[in-house]
Amino acid sequence: MKVLVIGATGGIGSRLLPMLIGNGHEVVGLHRKPGQASAIEQAGGQAVLGDIITMSVDDLAQAASGCDAIVFSAGAAGSGPDRTTAIDGDGPIKAVEAARAAGVSRFYLVSAFPEAGRGGEPKPGFEHYMAEKKRADVAVAASELGWVILRPGKLLDEAGAGRVALGAALPYGSVSRDSVAQVLAALLETPAVTGEILELTDGEVAVDDAVSRLVR
Ligand SMILES: NC(=O)c1ccc[n+]([C@@H]2O[C@H](COP(=O)([O-])OP(=O)(O)OC[C@H]3O[C@@H](n4cnc5c(N)ncnc54)[C@H](OP(=O)(O)O)[C@@H]3O)[C@@H](O)[C@H]2O)c1
Repeated sequence: MKVLVIGATGGIGSRLLPMLIGNGHEVVGLHRKPGQASAIEQAGGQAVLGDIITMSVDDLAQAASGCDAIVFSAGAAGSGPDRTTAIDGDGPIKAVEAARAAGVSRFYLVSAFPEAGRGGEPKPGFEHYMAEKKRADVAVAASELGWVILRPGKLLDEAGAGRVALGAALPYGSVSRDSVAQVLAALLETPAVTGEILELTDGEVAVDDAVSRLVR
């Protein structure tokens, strides 16, 4: 399988890349700074330079050429409302159009838990971030692609125990970025899991079991 990872240099993307390559897949990693190419290539991926804000659908379709799946794990990471709109909101919408144009049939979107930020004073821009995440979810879910929307809880850099809770509706919690990447890798191995919106936190179930339980 050939997979385009948008956000390949991020906390989740950079963990996912070697997992996919270890599973025998070809990976194209989109990166926006020239200096990031070597890390992607050292992991065994093909580096493609591009900024999701300025790339056209055609540019993205070219990057996705020959791919079977796209993983969208890019994010503006609190760099301002305009970038949040362009990356977290418009980015996946453009990538869905690119998938369609390039004949890519499967699409995996890293989104966010709807309960994120509840119970405290929201940081400036947070409501806009959540609205843009939802706008992207709506476009992905309305597409005819084989899609999965993954909504992780609060992301942690610490290595997880590789045990998760994964399902349609879960209590809010945190999850290690490592586990998110493992779940994405397992979902890519399990095309029967499709058309699902899945929440994800650290939990009690081994990743492969958590994913295989979702096969209907
Ligand atoms: N933080 C949380 O607790 C949390 C919770 C749930 C969901 N999420 C979502 O999870 C996703 C991944 O999280 P993460 O921790 O892996 O994020 P991250 O470490 O901030 O990585 C974001 C990735 O997006 C890339 N990117 C940013 N702007 C771009 C642009 N204009 N063009 C192309 N690529 C661009 C970054 O590239 P650079 O390396 O060049 O910056 C990086 O590869 C995000 O969508 C985030 O919103 C986060």
